[in-house]
Amino acid sequence: MPAYALLLRPAANRLYSKGAAALNQAELSVLNERVLNGSLYAVEPAVIGGVDYVRFSAAETMSTDDVARLSNLSSAFALFQIEDDGRLVPVALAPVAHLDDDLLTIQRYKGKTNEQFTKLLFNVTLAASAHTADWPTRRLRVLDPACGRGTSLNQGLVYGFDVDGIEIDRVAYDAYRTFFVTWLKDKRYKHQVHTMPLRRDGKVVGRRLEVVFARDKHEYKADDVQRVRLVNDDTRQAGDHYRKPVFDAVIADLPYGVQHASRTRPDARTRRPEALLDAALDGWIGAMKPGAAIGLSWNTKVLARDELVELLGRHGLEPRTGDGSFEHRVDHAITRDLVVAVKPE
Ligand SMILES: C[S@@+](CC[C@H](N)C(=O)[O-])C[C@H]1O[C@@H](n2cnc3c(N)ncnc32)[C@H](O)[C@@H]1O
Repeated sequence: MPAYALLLRPAANRLYSKGAAALNQAELSVLNERVLNGSLYAVEPAVIGGVDYVRFSAAETMSTDDVARLSNLSSAFALFQIEDDGRLVPVALAPVAHLDDDLLTIQRYKGKTNEQFTKLLFNVTLAASAHTADWPTRRLRVLDPACGRGTSLNQGLVYGFDVDGIEIDRVAYDAYRTFFVTWLKDKRYKHQVHTMPLRRDGKVVGRRLEVVFARDKHEYKADDVQRVRLVNDDTRQAGDHYRKPVFDAVIADLPYGVQHASRTRPDARTRRPEALLDAALDGWIGAMKPGAAIGLSWNTKVLARDELVELLGRHGLEPRTGDGSFEHRVDHAITRDLVVAVKPE
């Protein structure tokens, strides 16, 4: 059986303290089960020459397609096949990168969800959705209903998706709009930007942004475009914005129940993610296609996994990845975990 060693991004070790290899192993297990049809065996952390790897065996030499799928792992840095005599032979990775990943790394701000973790959350959520089998051939559409300054929107764009975001904080909304439009201009990508007031009961209650862009004028002419739709509103109003099931996946890093919440609307600010979820979930679920998956990360110090899983079930979702293998420490006030659930077909 061919054996492989996956070298992790050095940043992963800083991000997850000592847990990088364990998290990567958990992500790889999900990918193996859902995307690689269980073709990898004995997935386990290994130290080779004093460096952390994830080691695994494959039933046969991995195909180009399987290497491409594996290449999207959030911490994947380099892949090697392990020869019988122990030598490591490089296998070229080919991750999906529709856009430059500086889109994800340029912005730095307090409260940003780490981009590598965001990619992990995408990967395990996409792996559970019934609508992702034809990706990257088909352009998927993904919603982040608490999108902050858009780390997950940007990850979705790098994956080639159309992305939608809802964010209550006007400062975060404005910051994302300014950043993204500047980024498009810097890249000289052909684009159109529309901003509109958001009215409810005759009053302006927020803003809306729609951006259509393509990497070059040929793609733009051929309507091979990507769309970003961002709403500055309370996510509990999601049902107003999406009356039909259009999303292949929903992804959110929920408010941690500590600082960095909205300053503009203290009424909607929450220290209890379960109250927000309880009020918002039906709107989000209504916007998901049957079979679509929702992936949520949250602070386990303010909400226990069992309670969250129970809440998702109460709203008609089928929870998956329920074992806490993704739990990791972010700082003294935040221990983060993720849960994935599916809307029944
Ligand atoms: C953990 S942060 C997400 C950060 C984001 N992933 C990023 O990297 O910028 C959670 C976000 O949820 C937003 N939020 C909290 N309550 C909300 C509500 N009722 N409606 C919409 N957004 C809300 C907060 O303003 C915050 O930006």
